[in-house]
Amino acid sequence: MRESGIREVERMEDSIMRIFTICMLAALSLAFALFALADEPKVPPDGLKMQNMPNSKQPIIFNHSTHSKGECITCHHPVDGKADFRPCGAAGCHDVFDRKDKTTKSYYNMMHGKDLAHPTCISCHTKIAADDAEKKKRLTACRNAVCHTGGGGAS
Ligand code: HEC
Ligand code: HEC
Repeated sequence: MRESGIREVERMEDSIMRIFTICMLAALSLAFALFALADEPKVPPDGLKMQNMPNSKQPIIFNHSTHSKGECITCHHPVDGKADFRPCGAAGCHDVFDRKDKTTKSYYNMMHGKDLAHPTCISCHTKIAADDAEKKKRLTACRNAVCHTGGGGAS
């Protein structure tokens, strides 16, 4: 009888330990989740003037509100396994400002390239416009499209 009483207590201690471990793990993963959330910056307000090709005369205005369908990492793709919110042309990133450069360092290629691993402004807009000629003109043309408007709004 005493023998089984001790075993009973041992079993109870066992389950208490197990519950304690589960709670600790839950608390830990919650802490990690909150940390990941805190890591994501606020979405900037519309009218963001993009860093430009130094020889480009027209500023490009980017609005996050019109691009809120996708996830941040669609554009702020991971660098070293983490979403990166630095400007596209930050030093060490897409910081080659030669239009003819076709490497992944090329700023121009990063905005206009058509078959890169990540969607670019033009590759995504081309997909969205599909066969809609009017949309194509609005979203993918070099002139009079929504991109190079000199900051004067969509034309
Ligand atoms: C469709 C592409 C796209 C998506 C999706 C996107 N962004 Fe951006 N974001 C940009 C571009 C382009 C810039 C300007 C980069 C530059 O200036 O070179 C930018 C800039 C930023 C900046 C820097 C602002 C500054 O003033 O320096 C922050 C912060 C940011 N985005 C947060 C977010 C967050 C958070 C999300 C997701 C909720 C998100 N973005 C989704 C394209 C995108
Ligand atoms: C993953 C897809 C995607 C990417 C990448 C993307 N866009 Fe767009 N963009 C859209 C969609 C969707 C719309 C809305 C199309 C419509 O009006 O029917 C849009 C609309 C726009 C407009 C017109 C609306 C406005 O806010 O003035 C501009 C300007 C624009 N994009 C600029 C850019 C620039 C600059 C980049 C690259 C830095 C970019 N986009 C990258 C999907 C994308």
